[in-house]
Amino acid sequence: MPVDLNNALPLAWDSATLDADTKAMLDNLQPNILRAHVREHLSVLFVRFNDAAEGRAFLRHVATTWMKSAREHLKEARDFAGRGRRGTPYVGVGISKAGYRDLGHSVEQVRAFGDQAFRDGMKRRVAEVEDPPVEQWDRAYQREIHAVVLIGDDRPGPVATLRDEIIGALPASARLLGEETGRGMRNPAGDGIEHFGYVDGRSQPLFLKDEVDREPRKRWDPAFPLANVLVPDPFAPDPRRHHGSYLVFRKLEQNVRAFKEIEERLADDLGLKGEDRHRAGAMLVGRFKDGTPLTGKGKAGGGPVANDFTFEGDDGSKCPFSGHIRKTNPRSFGREVLMARRGQTYGRRGDQPWDDAPPETRPSGGVGLLFMAFNSSLVDQFEFTQRSWAGNPDFENPGTGHDPVIGQGERAIKVTFPKVWGKPGQSPPQAQVAQTVTMKGGEYFFAPSLAYLRGL
Ligand code: HEM
Repeated sequence: MPVDLNNALPLAWDSATLDADTKAMLDNLQPNILRAHVREHLSVLFVRFNDAAEGRAFLRHVATTWMKSAREHLKEARDFAGRGRRGTPYVGVGISKAGYRDLGHSVEQVRAFGDQAFRDGMKRRVAEVEDPPVEQWDRAYQREIHAVVLIGDDRPGPVATLRDEIIGALPASARLLGEETGRGMRNPAGDGIEHFGYVDGRSQPLFLKDEVDREPRKRWDPAFPLANVLVPDPFAPDPRRHHGSYLVFRKLEQNVRAFKEIEERLADDLGLKGEDRHRAGAMLVGRFKDGTPLTGKGKAGGGPVANDFTFEGDDGSKCPFSGHIRKTNPRSFGREVLMARRGQTYGRRGDQPWDDAPPETRPSGGVGLLFMAFNSSLVDQFEFTQRSWAGNPDFENPGTGHDPVIGQGERAIKVTFPKVWGKPGQSPPQAQVAQTVTMKGGEYFFAPSLAYLRGL
Protein backbone atom coordinates (compact mmCIF):
# COMPACT_ATOMS: atom_id res chain seq x y z
CA MET A 1 0.00 0.00 0.00
CA PRO A 2 1.41 3.40 -0.87
CA VAL A 3 1.68 5.83 2.03
CA ASP A 4 -1.38 8.09 2.02
CA LEU A 5 0.13 11.57 1.82
CA ASN A 6 -3.27 13.21 2.02
CA ASN A 7 -4.27 11.71 5.35
CA ALA A 8 -5.56 14.65 7.37
CA LEU A 9 -4.52 13.11 10.72
CA PRO A 10 -1.03 14.08 11.91
CA LEU A 11 1.41 11.21 11.89
CA ALA A 12 1.74 9.27 15.18
CA TRP A 13 5.25 8.23 14.19
CA ASP A 14 6.08 6.39 17.44
CA SER A 15 2.80 4.53 17.76
CA ALA A 16 3.15 0.77 18.26
CA THR A 17 0.63 0.23 15.48
CA LEU A 18 2.47 2.25 12.82
CA ASP A 19 2.14 0.36 9.53
CA ALA A 20 5.17 -1.08 7.73
CA ASP A 21 4.90 1.25 4.73
CA THR A 22 4.93 4.40 6.83
CA LYS A 23 7.85 3.01 8.82
CA ALA A 24 9.71 2.36 5.56
CA MET A 25 8.87 5.89 4.46
CA LEU A 26 10.38 7.39 7.64
CA ASP A 27 13.43 5.09 7.44
CA ASN A 28 14.15 6.39 3.97
CA LEU A 29 13.28 10.05 4.36
CA GLN A 30 15.85 12.72 5.13
CA PRO A 31 15.51 14.52 8.46
CA ASN A 32 14.59 18.23 8.75
CA ILE A 33 11.64 17.91 6.34
CA LEU A 34 8.79 16.73 8.56
CA ARG A 35 10.32 18.18 11.69
CA ALA A 36 12.92 20.95 11.95
CA HIS A 37 16.37 19.66 12.94
CA VAL A 38 18.54 21.66 15.32
CA ARG A 39 20.87 23.76 13.15
CA GLU A 40 22.01 26.67 15.31
CA HIS A 41 25.30 26.18 13.53
CA LEU A 42 24.93 25.38 9.88
CA SER A 43 27.33 24.81 7.04
CA VAL A 44 26.00 24.86 3.49
CA LEU A 45 28.22 23.45 0.74
CA PHE A 46 27.51 23.91 -2.98
CA VAL A 47 29.08 21.26 -5.16
CA ARG A 48 29.61 20.55 -8.84
CA PHE A 49 30.47 16.98 -9.84
CA ASN A 50 31.85 16.76 -13.42
CA ASP A 51 32.14 12.94 -13.37
CA ALA A 52 29.00 10.85 -13.04
CA ALA A 53 30.54 7.79 -11.40
CA GLU A 54 32.61 9.79 -8.94
CA GLY A 55 29.69 12.09 -8.14
CA ARG A 56 27.48 9.10 -7.42
CA ALA A 57 30.13 7.45 -5.26
CA PHE A 58 30.54 10.67 -3.26
CA LEU A 59 26.81 10.98 -2.56
CA ARG A 60 26.55 7.30 -1.65
CA HIS A 61 29.46 7.74 0.74
CA VAL A 62 27.85 10.81 2.37
CA ALA A 63 24.54 8.96 2.75
CA THR A 64 25.98 5.77 4.20
CA THR A 65 28.56 7.44 6.44
CA TRP A 66 26.93 10.56 7.85
CA MET A 67 23.21 10.75 7.10
CA LYS A 68 20.47 9.59 9.44
CA SER A 69 16.83 8.98 8.59
CA ALA A 70 13.82 11.04 9.60
CA ARG A 71 12.84 8.25 12.01
CA GLU A 72 16.25 8.23 13.68
CA HIS A 73 16.03 12.00 14.05
CA LEU A 74 12.57 11.79 15.63
CA LYS A 75 13.83 9.21 18.11
CA GLU A 76 16.82 11.41 18.95
CA ALA A 77 14.55 14.40 19.51
CA ARG A 78 12.33 12.31 21.81
CA ASP A 79 15.36 11.06 23.79
CA PHE A 80 16.67 14.60 24.12
CA ALA A 81 13.32 15.88 25.43
CA GLY A 82 12.92 12.93 27.83
CA ARG A 83 16.44 12.18 29.00
CA GLY A 84 18.49 15.11 27.78
CA ARG A 85 20.53 12.77 25.61
CA ARG A 86 22.24 14.74 22.86
CA GLY A 87 21.55 13.71 19.26
CA THR A 88 23.86 13.49 16.27
CA PRO A 89 24.47 16.27 13.71
CA TYR A 90 22.19 16.74 10.71
CA VAL A 91 23.51 16.03 7.25
CA GLY A 92 21.13 16.70 4.36
CA VAL A 93 21.56 16.52 0.60
CA GLY A 94 19.73 18.24 -2.25
CA ILE A 95 20.35 17.66 -5.96
CA SER A 96 19.52 20.19 -8.68
CA LYS A 97 18.12 19.34 -12.09
CA ALA A 98 21.58 19.94 -13.57
CA GLY A 99 22.96 17.67 -10.87
CA TYR A 100 20.70 14.76 -11.82
CA ARG A 101 21.81 15.16 -15.42
CA ASP A 102 25.47 15.23 -14.42
CA LEU A 103 24.95 12.11 -12.31
CA GLY A 104 23.89 10.29 -15.44
CA HIS A 105 20.10 10.63 -15.54
CA SER A 106 18.85 11.31 -19.04
CA VAL A 107 16.74 14.31 -20.05
CA GLU A 108 13.85 11.87 -20.45
CA GLN A 109 14.31 10.53 -16.94
CA VAL A 110 14.52 13.98 -15.36
CA ARG A 111 11.07 14.73 -16.79
CA ALA A 112 9.79 12.37 -14.10
CA PHE A 113 10.04 15.35 -11.78
CA GLY A 114 6.64 16.96 -12.02
CA ASP A 115 7.73 20.41 -10.95
CA GLN A 116 8.42 22.84 -13.79
CA ALA A 117 10.39 25.26 -11.61
CA PHE A 118 12.71 22.44 -10.54
CA ARG A 119 13.16 21.29 -14.14
CA ASP A 120 13.99 24.87 -15.21
CA GLY A 121 16.35 25.66 -12.30
CA MET A 122 16.26 28.98 -10.44
CA LYS A 123 18.23 30.94 -13.03
CA ARG A 124 15.52 30.40 -15.63
CA ARG A 125 12.76 31.45 -13.21
CA VAL A 126 14.02 34.99 -12.54
CA ALA A 127 11.11 36.57 -14.40
CA GLU A 128 8.54 34.43 -12.56
CA VAL A 129 9.33 35.94 -9.17
CA GLU A 130 10.98 39.24 -10.23
CA ASP A 131 14.40 38.21 -8.97
CA PRO A 132 17.45 40.34 -9.78
CA PRO A 133 19.27 39.32 -12.98
CA VAL A 134 21.65 36.38 -12.54
CA GLU A 135 24.68 38.61 -13.30
CA GLN A 136 23.94 40.42 -10.05
CA TRP A 137 23.94 37.25 -7.92
CA ASP A 138 26.96 36.25 -5.83
CA ARG A 139 29.44 34.50 -8.12
CA ALA A 140 29.01 31.01 -6.68
CA TYR A 141 25.31 31.03 -7.56
CA GLN A 142 25.96 32.16 -11.13
CA ARG A 143 27.64 28.82 -11.77
CA GLU A 144 25.92 25.50 -12.37
CA ILE A 145 25.34 23.99 -8.94
CA HIS A 146 24.74 20.23 -8.86
CA ALA A 147 24.17 19.55 -5.20
CA VAL A 148 23.92 21.14 -1.80
CA VAL A 149 25.11 19.51 1.42
CA LEU A 150 23.67 20.85 4.67
CA ILE A 151 25.44 20.19 7.97
CA GLY A 152 23.79 21.33 11.19
CA ASP A 153 24.17 20.99 14.94
CA ASP A 154 23.71 23.01 18.13
CA ARG A 155 27.48 23.31 18.58
CA PRO A 156 30.05 24.69 16.12
CA GLY A 157 32.64 21.94 16.71
CA PRO A 158 30.81 18.95 15.18
CA VAL A 159 29.75 21.08 12.20
CA ALA A 160 33.33 22.20 11.53
CA THR A 161 34.63 18.62 11.80
CA LEU A 162 31.96 17.19 9.50
CA ARG A 163 32.41 20.01 7.02
CA ASP A 164 36.12 19.20 6.74
CA GLU A 165 35.45 15.47 6.44
CA ILE A 166 32.80 15.91 3.75
CA ILE A 167 34.92 18.35 1.75
CA GLY A 168 37.82 15.91 2.16
CA ALA A 169 35.67 13.15 0.64
CA LEU A 170 34.97 15.15 -2.54
CA PRO A 171 36.58 13.45 -5.56
CA ALA A 172 39.23 15.37 -7.49
CA SER A 173 36.78 15.76 -10.37
CA ALA A 174 34.30 17.70 -8.20
CA ARG A 175 34.43 21.36 -7.23
CA LEU A 176 33.28 23.10 -4.09
CA LEU A 177 31.67 26.12 -5.78
CA GLY A 178 30.69 28.00 -2.70
CA GLU A 179 29.85 27.80 0.94
CA GLU A 180 27.58 29.59 3.42
CA THR A 181 27.67 29.60 7.18
CA GLY A 182 24.47 29.96 9.15
CA ARG A 183 24.36 30.90 12.82
CA GLY A 184 21.19 31.09 14.85
CA MET A 185 20.41 34.27 16.79
CA ARG A 186 18.17 34.45 19.83
CA ASN A 187 16.50 37.25 21.79
CA PRO A 188 16.69 37.45 25.60
CA ALA A 189 13.55 35.27 25.85
CA GLY A 190 15.43 32.52 23.98
CA ASP A 191 13.33 32.69 20.81
CA GLY A 192 15.04 32.43 17.42
CA ILE A 193 15.13 35.76 15.59
CA GLU A 194 16.08 37.09 12.17
CA HIS A 195 18.30 40.12 11.50
CA PHE A 196 15.53 42.77 11.61
CA GLY A 197 15.16 41.60 15.22
CA TYR A 198 11.84 39.72 14.95
CA VAL A 199 11.05 36.25 16.26
CA ASP A 200 11.13 33.90 13.28
CA GLY A 201 10.27 30.28 12.59
CA ARG A 202 7.28 30.18 14.93
CA SER A 203 4.50 29.41 12.49
CA GLN A 204 5.04 26.15 10.64
CA PRO A 205 2.87 23.47 9.12
CA LEU A 206 3.18 20.55 11.55
CA PHE A 207 2.99 16.94 10.39
CA LEU A 208 3.60 14.91 13.53
CA LYS A 209 1.08 14.18 16.23
CA ASP A 210 3.44 14.89 19.14
CA GLU A 211 4.22 18.36 17.74
CA VAL A 212 0.56 19.14 16.99
CA ASP A 213 -0.52 18.00 20.47
CA ARG A 214 1.73 20.61 22.09
CA GLU A 215 -0.08 23.49 20.32
CA PRO A 216 -3.25 25.24 21.43
CA ARG A 217 -5.60 25.18 18.43
CA LYS A 218 -8.90 26.87 19.03
CA ARG A 219 -8.62 29.11 15.97
CA TRP A 220 -5.71 27.96 13.80
CA ASP A 221 -5.09 24.31 13.02
CA PRO A 222 -1.32 23.75 12.63
CA ALA A 223 -1.76 20.13 11.47
CA PHE A 224 -1.04 19.54 7.80
CA PRO A 225 -1.03 16.44 5.57
CA LEU A 226 2.34 15.10 4.41
CA ALA A 227 1.30 16.13 0.90
CA ASN A 228 2.34 19.71 1.70
CA VAL A 229 5.99 18.64 1.63
CA LEU A 230 6.42 15.07 0.37
CA VAL A 231 6.37 13.62 -3.12
CA PRO A 232 7.35 10.13 -4.27
CA ASP A 233 11.05 10.03 -5.17
CA PRO A 234 10.87 9.12 -8.87
CA PHE A 235 14.31 7.47 -8.95
CA ALA A 236 14.04 5.51 -5.70
CA PRO A 237 13.64 1.71 -5.75
CA ASP A 238 10.04 1.99 -4.46
CA PRO A 239 8.55 5.47 -4.95
CA ARG A 240 5.41 4.41 -3.09
CA ARG A 241 7.41 4.24 0.14
CA HIS A 242 10.48 6.32 -0.71
CA HIS A 243 9.85 10.04 -0.68
CA GLY A 244 11.64 13.29 -1.19
CA SER A 245 10.90 16.98 -1.10
CA TYR A 246 11.69 20.01 -3.25
CA LEU A 247 14.05 22.36 -1.45
CA VAL A 248 14.24 26.04 -2.30
CA PHE A 249 17.45 27.79 -1.24
CA ARG A 250 17.78 31.57 -1.47
CA LYS A 251 20.42 33.83 -0.01
CA LEU A 252 18.52 36.94 1.07
CA GLU A 253 20.63 39.87 2.17
CA GLN A 254 19.00 42.22 4.67
CA ASN A 255 19.75 45.94 4.84
CA VAL A 256 19.00 46.23 8.54
CA ARG A 257 19.92 49.92 8.76
CA ALA A 258 17.46 50.83 6.00
CA PHE A 259 14.71 48.69 7.58
CA LYS A 260 15.22 50.37 10.96
CA GLU A 261 15.11 53.83 9.31
CA ILE A 262 11.86 52.83 7.62
CA GLU A 263 10.39 51.73 10.97
CA GLU A 264 11.34 55.11 12.51
CA ARG A 265 9.99 57.13 9.59
CA LEU A 266 6.72 55.22 9.53
CA ALA A 267 6.29 55.75 13.27
CA ASP A 268 6.94 59.50 12.76
CA ASP A 269 4.54 59.71 9.81
CA LEU A 270 1.77 58.07 11.80
CA GLY A 271 2.50 60.19 14.88
CA LEU A 272 3.17 57.11 17.04
CA LYS A 273 4.62 57.85 20.47
CA GLY A 274 6.48 55.84 23.13
CA GLU A 275 5.85 52.09 23.16
CA ASP A 276 3.29 52.57 20.38
CA ARG A 277 6.17 53.30 17.98
CA HIS A 278 6.91 49.57 17.86
CA ARG A 279 3.64 49.16 15.99
CA ALA A 280 5.29 50.63 12.88
CA GLY A 281 7.58 47.64 12.39
CA ALA A 282 4.84 45.26 13.49
CA MET A 283 2.67 46.55 10.64
CA LEU A 284 5.40 45.57 8.17
CA VAL A 285 5.97 42.10 9.63
CA GLY A 286 2.53 41.32 11.11
CA ARG A 287 4.08 40.47 14.48
CA PHE A 288 5.91 42.59 17.05
CA LYS A 289 9.59 41.90 17.55
CA ASP A 290 8.79 39.51 20.41
CA GLY A 291 6.45 37.60 18.10
CA THR A 292 3.12 38.95 19.41
CA PRO A 293 0.67 38.81 16.46
CA LEU A 294 -0.49 42.34 15.60
CA THR A 295 -3.97 41.19 14.66
CA GLY A 296 -4.57 40.11 18.27
CA LYS A 297 -3.03 43.00 20.20
CA GLY A 298 -1.90 46.55 19.57
CA LYS A 299 1.06 46.13 21.93
CA ALA A 300 3.88 43.63 22.34
CA GLY A 301 4.22 41.32 25.33
CA GLY A 302 2.34 38.60 27.11
CA GLY A 303 4.01 35.24 27.35
CA PRO A 304 4.98 32.57 24.84
CA VAL A 305 4.80 33.47 21.17
CA ALA A 306 1.22 32.87 20.07
CA ASN A 307 0.27 31.10 16.87
CA ASP A 308 -3.35 30.19 17.54
CA PHE A 309 -4.94 33.03 15.59
CA THR A 310 -6.52 33.98 12.28
CA PHE A 311 -7.20 37.36 10.65
CA GLU A 312 -10.95 36.85 10.82
CA GLY A 313 -12.70 40.14 11.50
CA ASP A 314 -9.54 42.17 10.88
CA ASP A 315 -10.30 44.57 8.01
CA GLY A 316 -6.69 45.69 7.92
CA SER A 317 -7.08 48.21 10.74
CA LYS A 318 -5.20 45.86 13.08
CA CYS A 319 -2.77 43.96 10.85
CA PRO A 320 -2.44 45.48 7.37
CA PHE A 321 -3.16 43.07 4.50
CA SER A 322 0.41 43.69 3.32
CA GLY A 323 2.01 42.55 6.61
CA HIS A 324 4.56 39.81 5.84
CA ILE A 325 2.84 37.05 7.80
CA ARG A 326 -0.60 37.98 6.47
CA LYS A 327 0.67 37.97 2.88
CA THR A 328 2.46 34.66 3.24
CA ASN A 329 -0.30 32.92 5.21
CA PRO A 330 -3.75 34.52 5.05
CA ARG A 331 -4.92 31.71 7.35
CA SER A 332 -8.52 31.54 6.08
CA PHE A 333 -7.51 29.89 2.78
CA GLY A 334 -4.46 28.63 0.90
CA ARG A 335 -3.34 25.96 3.37
CA GLU A 336 -1.98 23.86 0.50
CA VAL A 337 0.49 26.69 -0.24
CA LEU A 338 2.32 26.51 3.10
CA MET A 339 5.90 25.22 3.03
CA ALA A 340 8.08 23.90 5.84
CA ARG A 341 10.53 26.78 6.38
CA ARG A 342 13.96 25.64 7.51
CA GLY A 343 16.16 28.72 6.97
CA GLN A 344 18.95 30.11 9.10
CA THR A 345 20.44 33.57 9.55
CA TYR A 346 23.94 34.35 8.27
CA GLY A 347 26.48 37.07 8.98
CA ARG A 348 27.99 38.31 12.21
CA ARG A 349 27.25 41.67 13.82
CA GLY A 350 28.37 43.46 16.95
CA ASP A 351 25.03 45.06 17.89
CA GLN A 352 21.96 43.43 19.48
CA PRO A 353 19.32 42.92 16.78
CA TRP A 354 16.35 43.06 19.17
CA ASP A 355 17.06 46.33 20.99
CA ASP A 356 16.10 49.91 20.09
CA ALA A 357 19.59 51.18 19.20
CA PRO A 358 19.60 53.88 16.50
CA PRO A 359 19.55 52.79 12.83
CA GLU A 360 23.03 54.13 12.09
CA THR A 361 24.51 51.47 14.40
CA ARG A 362 22.97 48.70 12.25
CA PRO A 363 24.58 46.74 9.40
CA SER A 364 23.50 47.72 5.90
CA GLY A 365 24.77 44.52 4.27
CA GLY A 366 26.66 41.28 4.80
CA VAL A 367 23.89 39.80 6.93
CA GLY A 368 20.63 38.10 6.07
CA LEU A 369 18.66 34.92 5.80
CA LEU A 370 19.63 31.68 4.11
CA PHE A 371 16.01 31.05 3.21
CA MET A 372 15.24 27.36 2.86
CA ALA A 373 11.90 25.62 2.59
CA PHE A 374 10.64 22.16 1.72
CA ASN A 375 7.76 21.98 -0.78
CA SER A 376 5.81 19.36 -2.67
CA SER A 377 5.54 21.91 -5.50
CA LEU A 378 7.92 24.83 -5.98
CA VAL A 379 5.55 26.36 -8.52
CA ASP A 380 2.45 26.19 -6.32
CA GLN A 381 4.10 26.94 -2.97
CA PHE A 382 7.34 28.93 -2.91
CA GLU A 383 6.92 30.68 -6.27
CA PHE A 384 3.21 31.21 -5.75
CA THR A 385 3.84 32.83 -2.36
CA GLN A 386 6.63 35.02 -3.69
CA ARG A 387 4.82 36.10 -6.86
CA SER A 388 1.08 35.94 -6.35
CA TRP A 389 0.96 36.94 -2.70
CA ALA A 390 4.11 38.83 -1.61
CA GLY A 391 4.69 40.40 -5.03
CA ASN A 392 1.06 41.24 -5.74
CA PRO A 393 -0.08 44.65 -4.41
CA ASP A 394 -3.72 43.70 -4.98
CA PHE A 395 -3.69 40.38 -3.14
CA GLU A 396 -6.76 39.89 -0.94
CA ASN A 397 -7.70 43.57 -1.30
CA PRO A 398 -6.95 45.97 -4.16
CA GLY A 399 -4.20 48.50 -3.60
CA THR A 400 -2.94 47.20 -0.26
CA GLY A 401 0.66 46.95 -1.47
CA HIS A 402 3.57 44.54 -1.78
CA ASP A 403 4.94 42.51 1.08
CA PRO A 404 7.24 45.14 2.67
CA VAL A 405 9.75 42.45 3.74
CA ILE A 406 10.12 40.19 0.69
CA GLY A 407 8.15 41.88 -2.11
CA GLN A 408 10.30 42.40 -5.22
CA GLY A 409 9.98 44.58 -8.30
CA GLU A 410 8.42 48.00 -8.75
CA ARG A 411 6.32 49.29 -5.87
CA ALA A 412 4.44 52.01 -7.75
CA ILE A 413 1.08 52.24 -5.98
CA LYS A 414 0.62 54.24 -2.80
CA VAL A 415 -0.69 52.62 0.38
CA THR A 416 -2.23 53.62 3.70
CA PHE A 417 -1.61 52.40 7.25
CA PRO A 418 -4.00 52.38 10.23
CA LYS A 419 -3.10 55.32 12.52
CA VAL A 420 -4.78 53.83 15.57
CA TRP A 421 -4.82 50.06 16.16
CA GLY A 422 -8.23 48.57 15.34
CA LYS A 423 -9.93 51.90 14.60
CA PRO A 424 -11.13 53.12 11.20
CA GLY A 425 -9.18 56.07 9.82
CA GLN A 426 -6.10 55.49 7.81
CA SER A 427 -3.04 57.58 7.08
CA PRO A 428 -3.00 59.65 3.88
CA PRO A 429 -1.75 57.58 0.92
CA GLN A 430 2.03 57.27 1.01
CA ALA A 431 4.76 55.60 -0.99
CA GLN A 432 5.36 51.95 -0.13
CA VAL A 433 8.42 51.28 1.96
CA ALA A 434 11.62 50.62 0.01
CA GLN A 435 12.92 47.11 -0.62
CA THR A 436 15.44 46.12 2.07
CA VAL A 437 15.84 42.41 1.25
CA THR A 438 17.92 41.52 -1.80
CA MET A 439 18.15 38.08 -3.34
CA LYS A 440 21.85 37.23 -3.88
CA GLY A 441 21.39 33.86 -5.53
CA GLY A 442 20.02 30.40 -4.97
CA GLU A 443 18.87 27.18 -6.56
CA TYR A 444 16.07 24.67 -6.56
CA PHE A 445 16.96 21.20 -5.31
CA PHE A 446 15.28 17.88 -4.66
CA ALA A 447 16.09 16.24 -1.33
CA PRO A 448 15.94 12.60 -2.41
CA SER A 449 15.16 9.55 -0.32
CA LEU A 450 18.01 7.80 1.47
CA ALA A 451 17.07 4.69 -0.52
CA TYR A 452 18.07 6.53 -3.71
CA LEU A 453 21.30 7.95 -2.27
CA ARG A 454 22.41 4.65 -0.75
CA GLY A 455 21.81 2.88 -4.03
CA LEU A 456 23.90 5.23 -6.17
C1 HEM B 1 7.03 34.21 8.84
C2 HEM B 1 10.80 37.23 8.41
C3 HEM B 1 11.56 35.58 3.92
C4 HEM B 1 7.44 33.13 4.13
C5 HEM B 1 8.01 35.16 9.12
C6 HEM B 1 8.16 35.84 10.37
C7 HEM B 1 9.21 36.68 10.25
C8 HEM B 1 9.72 36.54 8.92
C9 HEM B 1 9.77 37.61 11.31
C10 HEM B 1 7.29 35.65 11.62
C11 HEM B 1 7.62 34.42 12.37
C12 HEM B 1 6.65 33.28 12.18
O1 HEM B 1 5.44 33.52 12.12
O2 HEM B 1 7.11 32.15 12.09
C13 HEM B 1 11.34 37.04 7.15
C14 HEM B 1 12.49 37.73 6.65
C15 HEM B 1 12.72 37.24 5.39
C16 HEM B 1 11.68 36.28 5.10
C17 HEM B 1 13.28 38.79 7.39
C18 HEM B 1 13.79 37.60 4.41
C19 HEM B 1 14.98 38.04 4.74
C20 HEM B 1 10.49 34.83 3.56
C21 HEM B 1 10.27 34.25 2.25
C22 HEM B 1 9.09 33.59 2.30
C23 HEM B 1 8.59 33.71 3.66
C24 HEM B 1 11.20 34.39 1.04
C25 HEM B 1 8.37 32.84 1.23
C26 HEM B 1 8.32 33.22 -0.04
C27 HEM B 1 7.02 33.16 5.44
C28 HEM B 1 5.90 32.39 5.94
C29 HEM B 1 5.78 32.71 7.29
C30 HEM B 1 6.83 33.67 7.59
C31 HEM B 1 5.03 31.40 5.15
C32 HEM B 1 4.76 32.14 8.27
C33 HEM B 1 3.48 32.89 8.20
C34 HEM B 1 2.45 32.27 9.11
O3 HEM B 1 2.23 31.07 9.01
O4 HEM B 1 1.87 32.99 9.91
N1 HEM B 1 8.95 35.60 8.24
N2 HEM B 1 10.87 36.18 6.19
N3 HEM B 1 9.46 34.49 4.39
N4 HEM B 1 7.55 33.91 6.46
FE1 HEM B 1 9.17 35.09 6.30
